[in-house]
Amino acid sequence: MNQKPFIALDFPTWEDTSSFLGLFNESLNVKVGMELYLQNGPIIIEKLLKKNHRIFLDLKLHDIPNTVYGAMKGLAQYDLELLNVHAAGGSIMMERALEGLQAGCSSNRNRTKLIAVTQLTSTSEKQMREEQLIDQSINDSVLHYANLAKQSGLDGVVCSPHEALLIREHCGEDFLTVTPGIRLVDDDKGDQQRMTTPAKAKEMGSSLIVVGRSITKAVDPQRAYNQVVDEWEGF
Ligand code: C5P
Repeated sequence: MNQKPFIALDFPTWEDTSSFLGLFNESLNVKVGMELYLQNGPIIIEKLLKKNHRIFLDLKLHDIPNTVYGAMKGLAQYDLELLNVHAAGGSIMMERALEGLQAGCSSNRNRTKLIAVTQLTSTSEKQMREEQLIDQSINDSVLHYANLAKQSGLDGVVCSPHEALLIREHCGEDFLTVTPGIRLVDDDKGDQQRMTTPAKAKEMGSSLIVVGRSITKAVDPQRAYNQVVDEWEGF
């Protein structure tokens, strides 16, 4: 997998998506989330793959193990880079997700990497304590979920850049830390809480970054993307 930033295609339709992608003359790393996928279905994946984009399908599955197994087995037919589940679904659910992915993946290509969402980057510690009744620091909760994901055989986690280094120290250099919650310096933070810039994310140990509104809502998205790439790659 190349290390370019994943652009979050949080659009409602294929028309919006393809007019956005038309601004770029290259195949991109893109993230398809529930907004685009649930309103348009798997055809979205087929269209993006046809245009040689590399896909992180961010459906954040969280259900009983058997159901997640079946969903993953079906999704394994697509040549995706990354898929995810919520670590809060538990170790058995994560193990079954991985088994589903292995069962559905044809032998002639690499298995899609499976990562777990720890705590959403929109969740503050206060909110986690009050609403999830987790009486820990957010770092401890995230680290706990990362360890659980690692023990369940997953390839990494989705976390905030602020937690990436801690996770890599505990789970190893090869364990992916995929981080949304990225903003260019002058951008609006929106609903995100635990954020930073692409350059800082690199310093803080992110393996891959996911950037949405800083690019998709920019006056000049291509320029914003290039700025993200330059910061991320350290130019
Ligand atoms: O627009 P913005 O850069 O905040 O978009 C971040 C993207 O990453 C969104 O598509 C959101 O669903 C996703 N995401 C997140 N936090 C997670 C996992 C995914 O923000 N923990």
